[in-house]
Amino acid sequence: MGATGLVGQELFHVLKKRGFPVGKLRLFASANSAGKVLHDTELEQLRSGCFSGLDVVFFAAGSDVSKRWAPEAVSQGAFVVDNSSAFRMEEGVPLVVPEINAHTMSANTKLIANPNCSTILALVALAPLHEAFGLRQLIASTYQAVSGSGKGGVDALSAEMRAWCDGCTLSTEHYPKPIVLNVIPLVDTLLEDGSSREEWKLRVESQKILQLPDLKVAATCVRVPVMRAHSMALTVSFDKSFSLEEAKDCLQVAAGVCLYEQEAIPTPQDASGVGDCIAGRLRLTDVLPNGLALWVSGDQLLKGAALNAVQIAEKVFL
Ligand SMILES: NC(=O)c1ccc[n+]([C@@H]2O[C@H](COP(=O)([O-])OP(=O)(O)OC[C@H]3O[C@@H](n4cnc5c(N)ncnc54)[C@H](OP(=O)(O)O)[C@@H]3O)[C@@H](O)[C@H]2O)c1
Repeated sequence: MGATGLVGQELFHVLKKRGFPVGKLRLFASANSAGKVLHDTELEQLRSGCFSGLDVVFFAAGSDVSKRWAPEAVSQGAFVVDNSSAFRMEEGVPLVVPEINAHTMSANTKLIANPNCSTILALVALAPLHEAFGLRQLIASTYQAVSGSGKGGVDALSAEMRAWCDGCTLSTEHYPKPIVLNVIPLVDTLLEDGSSREEWKLRVESQKILQLPDLKVAATCVRVPVMRAHSMALTVSFDKSFSLEEAKDCLQVAAGVCLYEQEAIPTPQDASGVGDCIAGRLRLTDVLPNGLALWVSGDQLLKGAALNAVQIAEKVFL
């Protein structure tokens, strides 16, 4: 569901690349796409009963679509992995990063929520450190790519780059300010307490996934003129003290993490198209008790969305 979108397209490639045993593939998108052909398959529009006979449905078409149609897919017998935020904080719905909390899925779980992309990328690197040293506080500043806001984000940056080169006025239709040669410290909508919904998601989803309801998280989420792959500067406080070498050793063997040595600088371009999160720039800091600062870049369309969703389905079906 959402086959023509950025996440939908990645889902197709990830399923193929990982040899997921797809029998019959059906692709759904909006009414605008119905009847067009993608990957030799005719795109369908959602209608009552359309999920009948399907084993797995990946939802990647936004919260409204998921809220309306995911329960129907479940009631028609499908296992659903939802990429939207519709059910993430709902009690009884597992919010899963397979490297961290696959155990929260049970045989009767029919709907799994894929966490927010920044949350997945941060936690893939932080969970192993948490297991070793006990996570206490997290301060996160994100640098989020335009593809994180779908096709519209990519189109906006592309159009603004062309407009800037041509000396034209920059449009601000997609984002609240121009995104080319700029950074925008607002991702998703503003909440009453002054934080953004993306910052709220990073906090509450981290607490749910790590089963740390009292974890303190201060996040500042920023949109940057990068096409693909999110990055984040993380400053973290732990219960136990540790050496820099111990922190590196921990990440060196962590599933889903590629640790860059000190001289290698991880960037979103390095992370684009890569399944692992790239961690680097590790250093101890005394601004927080048992503090560690690090940088993480990760492909939010892969591990932050499509790859994580397929890994969830693999846990259930393979
Ligand atoms: N982009 C990311 O990095 C990322 C990461 C994690 C999670 N997510 C989540 O994944 C979902 C998809 O994001 P995206 O970035 O792939 O968005 P996108 O590129 O804008 O694609 C949206 C998809 O949803 C379909 N769609 C839109 N409105 C619809 C409707 N009313 N009924 C049926 N289909 C509809 C579109 O079909 P048409 O082409 O026919 O319009 C398209 O296939 C969102 O919930 C998003 O929050 C995205």
